[in-house]
Amino acid sequence: MTSSIRRGLTTLTPAVVVAVAITAVLAACSSGSSGPAAKPKPTEDFAAQATDFRNLHTMTKVRGFYIDNRLGHLDEALAVANSSKGGVYPVGTIVQLVPQEAMVKREKGFSPQTKDWEFFFLSVSADGTVIDKRGTTDVANRFGGNCASCHQAATARFDGVCEKDHGCAPLPIGDDVFHSIQEADPRPLN
Ligand code: HEC
Repeated sequence: MTSSIRRGLTTLTPAVVVAVAITAVLAACSSGSSGPAAKPKPTEDFAAQATDFRNLHTMTKVRGFYIDNRLGHLDEALAVANSSKGGVYPVGTIVQLVPQEAMVKREKGFSPQTKDWEFFFLSVSADGTVIDKRGTTDVANRFGGNCASCHQAATARFDGVCEKDHGCAPLPIGDDVFHSIQEADPRPLN
């Protein structure tokens, strides 16, 4: 009796193993395709192309600046931007104050000196965006000001974003001027 049960189990085992394996593979597939938005994977990166920089008015305005995320993490980016505690922006985040300058969050480890931000100097027109210069510690704006050297003064928890009160030296330009420059963005809205 006992030995026949044992023989039966031994015979069944391979079939059970195969069934469990198939179930596991199917479960993995379905959770991968229809589950909730996955957290950014450690390997996720975003190398922006010119067409990723669109009219500021296609982005989401937060106080004085505009924000977007090309990898589907806009909610997470907005949560950081709207938190008084700050936080680390998710990979794929684009932040702009004016159409001609942008910072884009790359993968962790891309550039520890700039908190993994890639800085951009852009030309914009009715035809769209041209990337004039991109980099980390070596990009300057049209006035010769180095992006990284100003932005690294931001208090650590604000992840390199200056605004008015994050510790960066203030810009000698009024909000009304920034607003006019933002409104004059010549790029198409679609
Ligand atoms: C002279 C210092 C300085 C330089 C140079 C500079 N920035 Fe800034 N930047 C600031 C300050 C200060 C603000 C906040 C302005 C405000 O809200 O009044 C700011 C705002 C921004 C913002 C909006 C988010 C934020 O941090 O408030 C972006 C994006 C940005 N700068 C990108 C750049 C890029 C890209 C470059 C280089 C091409 C650059 N900046 C050069 C000081 C600087």
